[in-house]
Amino acid sequence: MSRVRHERLCILSRQKSLYSTARLIEAAQALGASPIVIDTLRCTMVVGDDGSKLLYRGVSVTGLSVVIPRIGTSITAYGMQVVNHLDSMRVPIVNSAHAISRSRDKVRCLQVLTAGGVKVPRTVMANDTVHIVRLVDAVGGLPCIIKLLRGTQGVGVMIATTMTEARTIVDTFTSLGQEICLQEFIAESSGRDLRALVVGGRVVGAMRRQARAGEFRSNLHRGGEGSPVTLDPVFEETAVKAARLIGLDICGVDMLEGRDGPRVMELNSSPGFEGLEHATGQDIATEMVRFALERAAAMRNG
Ligand SMILES: Nc1ncnc2c1ncn2[C@@H]1O[C@H](COP(=O)(O)OP(=O)(O)O)[C@@H](O)[C@H]1O
Ligand SMILES: [Mg+2]
Repeated sequence: MSRVRHERLCILSRQKSLYSTARLIEAAQALGASPIVIDTLRCTMVVGDDGSKLLYRGVSVTGLSVVIPRIGTSITAYGMQVVNHLDSMRVPIVNSAHAISRSRDKVRCLQVLTAGGVKVPRTVMANDTVHIVRLVDAVGGLPCIIKLLRGTQGVGVMIATTMTEARTIVDTFTSLGQEICLQEFIAESSGRDLRALVVGGRVVGAMRRQARAGEFRSNLHRGGEGSPVTLDPVFEETAVKAARLIGLDICGVDMLEGRDGPRVMELNSSPGFEGLEHATGQDIATEMVRFALERAAAMRNG
């Protein structure tokens, strides 16, 4: 990487102070690149005869070598516009808008994964939820998981142990206009899952997450605890394959340890890696930045 010094690596992120954003800046500087952080919501897109421009706080942004989008789920729609806009300006982007939006809808993501031969928990989505018994049966009976299609950090993932609970949860979310799916509860995972971080087709770090007592969701935001793990090759291959199928260059892959091997639950296109770096002691930020800079160089030369 000879031209690193002149690389302007742009991180799309709401705040410089967020752990993962701050670590990406640090890693980019350590590699001799010039990182800049752009608040996605403060970007203005201009499309016109004189070409597309991206204005940031009113000033045209030029000369970006590569962009790492860190788009939170609360701003997915505008974030996708900005990523698409940068793409139309031919700026190399690590994670395309198409791949990000595919991963944001849990059912869409599982559809693509199953079609590609990756195992997922049995999942059902229905517009007509009157016959709740049929839907619960379709995912293998009770208890079953009910989740928001676009939830994150464990919020919006629920477990129903009775048919009445299932009906109440489904009716509540449906009446609130929230899209949900029902899912087979992988009981044997018993509050544990695996998070693999894939960068450029390679797992660069992995941890096992264990939910706290009395909780089935292992998200660190829900009090789960991460510990380093050497992935079984089957899990490693599954994570890499899932990332490839969805088309994400960088992502977190959440997998349950089913009786018959990995079951992928979801892919996170802007994975926070504070927990992973702390659990493993690995430098995940440098892996991401290095990949982004390689992408920039490859786009320039090819
Ligand atoms: N089908 C399932 N069976 C068992 N546990 C599950 C299942 N789905 C989710 N979980 C638990 O809930 C957590 C959050 O689910 P996930 O689908 O990853 O949603 P989020 O986007 O909120 O992280 C998982 O990490 C896992 O611990
Ligand atoms: Mg998750």
